[in-house]
Amino acid sequence: MAMMPKKRRIDDQMRFGLMWPNTKSQNVTSGTVAAANPNPLDVGVHQALARTVERVGFDYAFFADTYAANAPANIAAGHGEPRIYAPLWAPVVMLATEHLGVVTTLHTRYLPAAVIARIGSNLDAISNGRWAWNAVPGVKAGESALFGGDDVPDERRYDQARESIAAVKALWAAGVGEKVEFHGEFVDVAGTMAGPVPVQAMPPIFNPGVSPAGIETIAGHCDFGFTAVVDDVEIVRAQVENVAAAAEAAGREPGAVQVAGSISIVLGDTEEEAQERYQWFLDAVDVEAGAGFAKFFLANSATYAKLLEGLPWDEQIRRIGVGAGSSVLVGTSETVAEQLAGIQRETGLKNFLLTPFLWAPEEIARLEGVFSALAERGVWTPPSERGWSW
Ligand SMILES: Cc1cc2nc3c(=O)[nH]c(=O)nc-3n(C[C@H](O)[C@H](O)[C@H](O)COP(=O)(O)O)c2cc1C
Repeated sequence: MAMMPKKRRIDDQMRFGLMWPNTKSQNVTSGTVAAANPNPLDVGVHQALARTVERVGFDYAFFADTYAANAPANIAAGHGEPRIYAPLWAPVVMLATEHLGVVTTLHTRYLPAAVIARIGSNLDAISNGRWAWNAVPGVKAGESALFGGDDVPDERRYDQARESIAAVKALWAAGVGEKVEFHGEFVDVAGTMAGPVPVQAMPPIFNPGVSPAGIETIAGHCDFGFTAVVDDVEIVRAQVENVAAAAEAAGREPGAVQVAGSISIVLGDTEEEAQERYQWFLDAVDVEAGAGFAKFFLANSATYAKLLEGLPWDEQIRRIGVGAGSSVLVGTSETVAEQLAGIQRETGLKNFLLTPFLWAPEEIARLEGVFSALAERGVWTPPSERGWSW
């Protein structure tokens, strides 16, 4: 095995990440879909999936994370239990691959900066320079209580996140044996942290915030932001432009801050078969659990509520139930590639986080056809031909 550190490269080619399966059915509120997926506690399945993902041309695996369980109706529907813990399962994927980036979520409100810095530098060492941090504040009521409560008011969560990110960067930037002092309003760090220092020097930082404070945090302090790709491309374009303008205002180099769009794909050998498969997912949604999840999801982000507003409530439940409100591209490899190229043309988005519905390795392998079709259009180059860059 020759694990290679990843470098950042800014070009016009598409990048793809896979929202890593951390539970039986992460992206469809459905016991039927859950039953059709592998066991998320099977290490061998993750290893096989990791090798598949690297082989077909993904750039990174993205581990979302949450400490709190889903609502009882979701659990009853087989949605979200059990759920593997991102930083501990990341090495399973790292050790099965040589070039794939592995992004893990670590919450700034729950983990002290020194813990985040130390987990990060060790994951970067284990992967030989392929780790990145998804720096989220943590949003769920009920989650912070697991940590004994939270003294960061919700509206200040990104102020706290920015301090945490700054302190983590200071810890990573310090040489071996060098003392660090960071005294903020929420984060206080003084001392000399044990090595290793990160292989990448400064691992990339992702942040999926969509509120103004979230965007300011991405623009000023992170390398990648996220937006849900929704069917109204104007909304997506506005989000991409917002982040670019905020990054420019923050004095960042052009292209230094990229936006990744979360999106789902349902493939068929024919258009008709793809539509039938998509309908199968819509029909499989557990409506009761889906309604609860949709309410919970929208209550946790006014921004997402706004992104979906105008759609009938029934439609909102289905859309959140299948793919958490993101667009679902349905078609053959050819027509899905066409749709992706269209989204790139119309929005400027070129980094996509695919949220899978069925995630057995042989299901994910089908995406190879989409990548080939994108390569023919000149918008995608295999990672091996661009230095396996981020
Ligand atoms: C692609 C994507 C992945 C996310 N992953 C996580 C996660 O793993 N853990 C988490 O607590 N929140 C996660 N979130 C929620 C965000 O952290 C954020 O709270 C949400 O996008 C709303 O943005 P806002 O906080 O700026 O209102 C994710 C959001 C998106 C779009």
